[in-house]
Amino acid sequence: MNNGQEFSKEEMNPLANIEQWDEDVLDRYPEPDQPFKAKEEFRNYDNPVRDTVREFYRLNHKYQTYDFAKEKRNEFLQFNRKEMPVWGAMEFLNTLVDDSDPDIALDQLQHLLQTAEAIRADGHPDWFVLTGFIHDMGKVLCLFGEPQWAVVGDTFPVGCKFSDKIVYPEFFENNPDSKDERYNTKYGIYSEGCGLNEVMMSWGHDEYLYQIMKNYLPEEALYMIRYHSFYPQHREHAYDHLMNGHDREMFEWVKKFNPYDLYSKSPKPPVLEELKPYYEELITKYLPKTVRL
Ligand SMILES: [Fe+2]
Ligand SMILES: [Fe+2]
Repeated sequence: MNNGQEFSKEEMNPLANIEQWDEDVLDRYPEPDQPFKAKEEFRNYDNPVRDTVREFYRLNHKYQTYDFAKEKRNEFLQFNRKEMPVWGAMEFLNTLVDDSDPDIALDQLQHLLQTAEAIRADGHPDWFVLTGFIHDMGKVLCLFGEPQWAVVGDTFPVGCKFSDKIVYPEFFENNPDSKDERYNTKYGIYSEGCGLNEVMMSWGHDEYLYQIMKNYLPEEALYMIRYHSFYPQHREHAYDHLMNGHDREMFEWVKKFNPYDLYSKSPKPPVLEELKPYYEELITKYLPKTVRL
């Protein structure tokens, strides 16, 4: 059920795997002190992945309307699909491997483990480490048959004008909300400084996991989870006018989190089995015995 819309196979999965989105983000925001070479390598316009990502954003920007985001909330925030221990949910997420490109597809748990271990190595509080470990758990949406562009991709507010600072802004031309006068002004249905809690974001793995975790983690952690893909704000500051003072304070944490998400790829991959007791303990400390997906 997609808002009464049916999507073709090509429209569901424009990317060979969802990591292509993460890689493209890294391309847009390369690590500041990395050698120039890496950047040149990425900026290869003959790169077929680039076209794939472009197509991904064409679909994302076309279909992520205010009504779509609302509909997806209604559909998924009933949490009536599965109930399992957190570790089980992480293993379930890890079944998301793409056979079309096994070389590129890193398993999901490795990315989570590397993010969390980098946070731990810097001596941050344990809830921050746990946040790193679970932050992409919402990607299980893919396993429920959701289109890739409704799971990953940069997120942005819906219900007001789409910012030019969002990647590939020209594709919003095809989004019906751009022509809807309720939604196409600077503030749309919102007001100045109303606070992000009042703002409906495009639907994806961030909001979904936030809703699962909202009663269990410190607010700083919840902001990191809920807005980690909101690059138009935490990198581009495109929606300052909707934020309140509290959001601004909390976004310091979102910004602190982002480099761990993007740049923590480790040459020596951590071994899950060795680290499992530590992470199981963290899960037990903060999270309920089971989560409903
Ligand atoms: Fe993510
Ligand atoms: Fe991530």
